[in-house]
Amino acid sequence: MILPKGCSVSRRALISGALALSGTTVLGGVGRSAGEASRVVEMDLVARTTILDVAGAPVELLTYDGGFPGPVLRARAGDLMRLEFSNELAEPTNLHFHGLHVSPGGHADNPFVTVPPGERFRYELLIPTGYGGTFWYHPHMHHRLARQLWRGLAGPLLVERPDDAVLAGTDEHVVLVKDLTAVDGQPAPHTTADWARGKSGTVVLANGEVRPVLTARRSPVWLRLINACNGRTLLLAREDGQPLTLIALDGHLLDVPRTVPEVLVTPAQRVELLISLAEGEQVALVHRPYSRGARREPSRPEGLLTVAASTSLAATPIPERLAALERLDPAAVARRRSFRMAMAFMHADGNAAQQQDVIHARLGDLECWEIINVDTQDHVFHLHTWPFQVWRCDGVEQNPPAWRDTVNLRPGERVELLIPFRDVAGRSLFHCHIAEHGDAGMMAIVEVSGGAVTPAARPSDRTRPPGDRSGLEPAWPPGAIPGSICGPGGRGVG
Ligand code: C2O
Ligand code: CU
Repeated sequence: MILPKGCSVSRRALISGALALSGTTVLGGVGRSAGEASRVVEMDLVARTTILDVAGAPVELLTYDGGFPGPVLRARAGDLMRLEFSNELAEPTNLHFHGLHVSPGGHADNPFVTVPPGERFRYELLIPTGYGGTFWYHPHMHHRLARQLWRGLAGPLLVERPDDAVLAGTDEHVVLVKDLTAVDGQPAPHTTADWARGKSGTVVLANGEVRPVLTARRSPVWLRLINACNGRTLLLAREDGQPLTLIALDGHLLDVPRTVPEVLVTPAQRVELLISLAEGEQVALVHRPYSRGARREPSRPEGLLTVAASTSLAATPIPERLAALERLDPAAVARRRSFRMAMAFMHADGNAAQQQDVIHARLGDLECWEIINVDTQDHVFHLHTWPFQVWRCDGVEQNPPAWRDTVNLRPGERVELLIPFRDVAGRSLFHCHIAEHGDAGMMAIVEVSGGAVTPAARPSDRTRPPGDRSGLEPAWPPGAIPGSICGPGGRGVG
């Protein structure tokens, strides 16, 4: 993480065992009330503009607590995370806690909240017991997400899960990857092509640095990697051609470690690797050329980071088993839906209807969503709040099924996802996580209700009648080409 020189981070991270909730705060989450949280973790986070050194030159970035990436926020399964957020930017923003299975309403992971410049907002996230992993936080203001993320707003969020015990003795490193192009000391502005293709930067930074060396005192290294790029997909591999040992996807531990030649990490996805080292050994990770239809990048394998063992190294073996994998039963599906993902090639005025589409699902139902990419470029499907299992890809059953919150679709590809709408009710979003595509309209709302209902999100501009865009600024990012996630009829979802 890069911090401004000579400036210490003033961040309060306070943990209290007893709860002191104000009587009126209502929290949703996994059939528990806030009073049942095992402990309260309090923290502050400030969004502000900061000039930082990036790849040898000063760049004016949007930061959390003055750093790039933002600070690593840590909590434990079962915690109530109370985060006092201050917006010191010159524009409105908010926070989204990507991948967390918590209420999307009220003061929780509510993407419809707006925090105006100069104002504060207290987030309260009640994390389910037994639930954890590698997540991240970023802004989620509609039509501003891509530009705010691009200019630096992203940070890791780690929730310690009980299963992490199998990783005791490893050397944990959290790495947030973000690409950037700077022009005249500023992140390069978006072009029309960027809105269509997803913006990529010319330098790829790991924790804000070009090809950092991470020193390990223990082996294996547990690398928790987050792709926080707007549009760049990383095809990760070892430089020496040896296979990777994959242990988790999108924060969810696999049943056993898997050996893979390379691993694809789309925007917003996380992968976790174990890298065994001998004393004094170095292992370099590269990202290989990958074509996502819109772009092929990099043109040849590029170094991302190196892990280097110190001369005295405490080594433990790679665990044989990681976590018990729940298998969702396709026979239990209560409802099937089908969606197509594409950029629309015409700018139809007022064609923002897709963003106002609302899918209604019932709390407790298992649904199967078929997603088809009918476009000529990759799209990255992401569903907030409810992690899913990728059941089939192009009709082929995935074995074992992986829990994910974000999945890539190549042109023409079709995936079937099993989504248990369990524990948490409320209104949230699904969208393409190529940030520009989401802003340009590849986004819709899912509302889960019935059973124990969490407080509704506050009314937002999404509830206005289709076509009514009064007061929304800007209607589209300049030059944007609207895209869609839509149902079989070409309009609407369902
Ligand atoms: Cu990373 Cu809508 O989220
Ligand atoms: Cu997309």
